[in-house]
Amino acid sequence: MTCSLITPSPHLPTSPAMIALSPSLQARLSNPLKIGSFEVKSRVLQSPLSGVTDLVFRRLVRRYAPESMMYTEMVNATGLHYVKELPKIMEVDPNEKPISIQLFDCRPNFLAEAAQMAVAEGADTVDINMGCPVNKITKNGGGSSLLREPATAEAIVRAVVKAVDVPVTVKTRIGWTDKEINILDFAKRMEDAGAQMITVHGRTRAQGYNGAAKWEWIARVKQNLSIPVIANGDIFSVEAAVKCLEETGADGVMCSRGTMGYPFLVGEVDYFLKTGQMLPPPTPVERLECAKEHLQSLWEYKGDRGVRQARKHMTWYAKGFAGAGELRGQLSVIETVQQGLDLLERAINQLVHYPLLDPALHPELSNLAAQ
Ligand SMILES: Cc1cc2nc3c(=O)[nH]c(=O)nc-3n(C[C@H](O)[C@H](O)[C@H](O)COP(=O)(O)O)c2cc1C
Repeated sequence: MTCSLITPSPHLPTSPAMIALSPSLQARLSNPLKIGSFEVKSRVLQSPLSGVTDLVFRRLVRRYAPESMMYTEMVNATGLHYVKELPKIMEVDPNEKPISIQLFDCRPNFLAEAAQMAVAEGADTVDINMGCPVNKITKNGGGSSLLREPATAEAIVRAVVKAVDVPVTVKTRIGWTDKEINILDFAKRMEDAGAQMITVHGRTRAQGYNGAAKWEWIARVKQNLSIPVIANGDIFSVEAAVKCLEETGADGVMCSRGTMGYPFLVGEVDYFLKTGQMLPPPTPVERLECAKEHLQSLWEYKGDRGVRQARKHMTWYAKGFAGAGELRGQLSVIETVQQGLDLLERAINQLVHYPLLDPALHPELSNLAAQ
């Protein structure tokens, strides 16, 4: 693909952190994350996000977090079995490392076959989705419905481990409902079946994405297992990442919704964990410049379909300055790449020429910026 790449982060640390990195946490996380035989030099991971974490988005995240593990969007193993060709969501850049391809399904043999295709595409690890709450997936036996079918989940892990020579990992939730929290037993069974790492999203399937993630369950999983445990759920800031690592004892954290329209987050957390210093947040202009690059790259990679997909991303970027609400409305209906670029360019010019619109410089404008 031809999307322009991406210079190193211009952000340099300026102010001392409001939070401290405790020596014990720093020591605990100073070694590489070991996923079986594969080593990752960062304890912060970019989650799989369907409709979001395509190759273009991952490139943006990787600019700020070059050592972090990233995940493709989830790929349907049954689809791969019948189509026998690689969908775009499974495409990996040859230079992209470390990278995991995530698969979903309930058929061990299809998943084993799909895992071999994933490795041929360049996956450093293969992740099995056992957490997706969406009806379309669960009614076919995939995603979080596997929490209710642990024997099938075990058979899946065994089959995939046998089929590939890269580490196999699992991403799941704490249970189906509050009354069916079975993550302790489930995670142990995944480890015994050969999973080399487990990511636990601290919500039940019934919660969807609502309510707080119950990190206390992740702490209990960590105490029970020998393989690395990654904590996921509600990591929207460096502070939250540190708190979560302290409270759970997890081997790493995975950022998810906090990265939508903010591909800086994984890098910010990684930088803090490595140095104890906070990077200054990007300015509204820097965020809109990033949005422009994201839009342009999606168009180059996917054509007009990329522009339609870019609408949601653009609205996520347009936050935190006076006039952002109006801009979001305009970006949400763009038909062409040029329309989007023009809108963003105009907003950038306004912010450059009228910096009063930036609430970081003028807190009294924060009401306008919150629109
Ligand atoms: C739009 C969207 C798409 C998602 N797609 C996937 C996916 O493909 N695979 C997966 O394992 N989880 C997926 N998730 C779940 C996230 O990876 C993550 O577990 C969840 O958002 C909890 O973390 P958070 O509270 O920090 O957002 C998705 C979540 C959202 C909001």
